[in-house]
Amino acid sequence: MIPGPLALLEVGASAGLTLYPDRYSYRYDGGEPLHPSTGPSTVLLECTTNGRVPVPAELPTIVWRAGIDLEPLDVNDPRDAVWLETLVWPEQHERRERLRAAIAIARGHPPRLVRGDAIEALAALASEAPTDATLVVVASAVLVYLPAAERMRFVETVRALGVDWVSLEGVGGLPTVHAAIPDNGTPPGRFVLALNERPLAWTGPHGQTLDWF
Ligand SMILES: C[S@@+](CC[C@H](N)C(=O)[O-])C[C@H]1O[C@@H](n2cnc3c(N)ncnc32)[C@H](O)[C@@H]1O
Repeated sequence: MIPGPLALLEVGASAGLTLYPDRYSYRYDGGEPLHPSTGPSTVLLECTTNGRVPVPAELPTIVWRAGIDLEPLDVNDPRDAVWLETLVWPEQHERRERLRAAIAIARGHPPRLVRGDAIEALAALASEAPTDATLVVVASAVLVYLPAAERMRFVETVRALGVDWVSLEGVGGLPTVHAAIPDNGTPPGRFVLALNERPLAWTGPHGQTLDWF
C-alpha cells in the first residue's frame, strides 16, 4: 500500500528479523506462494485472510533497513540466537525452525541496529535514511512496553518526522488507533494493524490472520 522503494526503520527491532520482509516467502489463504525476486525463501510465512485484504502481488523493494532497541540482539552471536529460541514454546517446533531459518537469512546481511530508546533515538536514525526512498517506521509489539504518556510522545515524534508508519500492537496499545477502531466488538487475543494511525485489520499476534475492517 506504500509506494517504494522503501527505507524501513523499526523501533523495538530486537534482532532485526522483521526488517527482512523482502527476503521471506508468503502464502495467503493456502494459495500460490509469493517469493522474493531471488526465488523461494527458506522462511515461509502463512496468513489466513478475511475481507478485502489487498493481498500483495509482489514483495516490496527495500533499499535501506535499520532498527532501534533498548537491548539489540546480534544474529551472529550464538548466545543471542539461543536466547531467541528460548522465547518459543518447547512444543512449537515449526516456529523454532522458522526462527532458525530467519536468523540464517539475517546473518548473511546483518541489519544496522542502534541501542537506544524508541523515542529518543528515532529522529537521528531516520536522518540516515536515503532521501530517494519512502521512509517507513514500523512498531510491532513494542509500544505496549511504553507507559501511556510515552506512547503519545512516540506518536507525536513520528508525526513530526512526516513519514509513513505501520503499527501492529495489542488493542489499546495506541490511543489514537484504538479510538478509530470500527465499533464491531473486540475479538479476544487480536492485535490491530494500522497505517498512519488508521486501523486496517485485526490480526493474529504474529500476523497469521488478517481480518480487514
Ligand atoms: C516483543 S519484542 C518485539 C520484537 C519485534 N518488533 C517483533 O515484532 O517481533 C519487543 C522489543 O521492544 C524492545 N523495547 C521495549 N521498550 C523499548 C523502548 N522504549 N525503546 C526501544 N526498544 C524497546 C524490547 O527490548 C524488545 O526487543
